[in-house]
Amino acid sequence: MVESYYQAFEAYRQQHPFDGQPSALYNPVNYIMELGGKRLRPILALMGYELFNPNYEAALPLAYAIEIFHNFSLVHDDIMDAAPLRRGKETVHTKWNLNTAILSGDVMLIYAYDYLLLLDAPDRMTDILKVFNRLAREVCEGQQMDMDFETRSDVSIPEYLHMIELKTSVLIAGALEMAGLAAGASAEDVRHLYEFGRNIGLAFQLQDDILDTYGEAAAVGKQIGGDIVQNKKTYLILKAQELASDPDRSTLATLMSTPTIDPKSKINAVKALLDKMNIRQQAQDTKTQYQNDAFAHLSALSIPAANRIALESLAHALLDRIS
Ligand code: IPE
Ligand code: IPE
Ligand code: MG
Ligand code: MG
Ligand code: MG
Repeated sequence: MVESYYQAFEAYRQQHPFDGQPSALYNPVNYIMELGGKRLRPILALMGYELFNPNYEAALPLAYAIEIFHNFSLVHDDIMDAAPLRRGKETVHTKWNLNTAILSGDVMLIYAYDYLLLLDAPDRMTDILKVFNRLAREVCEGQQMDMDFETRSDVSIPEYLHMIELKTSVLIAGALEMAGLAAGASAEDVRHLYEFGRNIGLAFQLQDDILDTYGEAAAVGKQIGGDIVQNKKTYLILKAQELASDPDRSTLATLMSTPTIDPKSKINAVKALLDKMNIRQQAQDTKTQYQNDAFAHLSALSIPAANRIALESLAHALLDRIS
């Protein structure tokens, strides 16, 4: 079902490669764009558009703009997170260098706007640009909070949820919102699309946190345990801090606030504490709550029930994902 959107997106992407000069600027852009990835956000944009306009190919420039923005955010995120691996390959700043990763990322952000402007939605372009600018700002805010949390030991779960809403959810929600706007959906339907995406996005980041600690390296394509090494205050850590009794709580706090000398033993020690409190399951349960909230908004859309099935099954697949 999702395959046809994926194929349409990949065909459009291949027809629009980054082949400008100088190649030292554009080679890393092509590299990250061709590394694969699930293409979740463009697929959601195409599917969201099609709910209100059958000609979903018209939304391909929007889908591409969103995926370019996403990949730009990954290139810079990997610098911030000191991540060696992305999609099973070297990160851009590791393969090239820091300056290259900064500048190639910057140019991707500009190209995202170029593709957005290719979208044929004259009446709604201003609204779409405003959504794009808002979410791009919010992603920066979320990324800063994520980094601020690394050196804090008093982060609350509501603060964490706000942070992941900004760094991750708003792009997924905004992809659907812009698609709805471009397809001419009503304000009420656009709102439900956004809320569907926002809740899926929260569940998606919870799953990302789970996979960072519990995933299979080959499937995830990132360094397993990277969040623990970086002292990231993920849901797993915060929930454990909430539930731990005294000696464990201070052990965890110490582990998650000191520079890492021996990554393997730090990861193992933190995992042992998480397992003791069954934290993985609790993260799963919270994910399920967001998933249910998401489906309520999908059901509220003013479209025939049959048209929701594809989005529903994509949302299910996403939250049990292993990569
Ligand atoms: C990774 O996003 C960054 C997050 C917001 C969690 P994805 O898991 O969608 O990454 P790709 O594009 O499929 O590689
Ligand atoms: C990424 O969050 C959010 C953005 C890229 C804006 P993470 O740092 O958790 O994403 P991964 O795990 O590196 O893909
Ligand atoms: Mg990050
Ligand atoms: Mg990261
Ligand atoms: Mg992550």
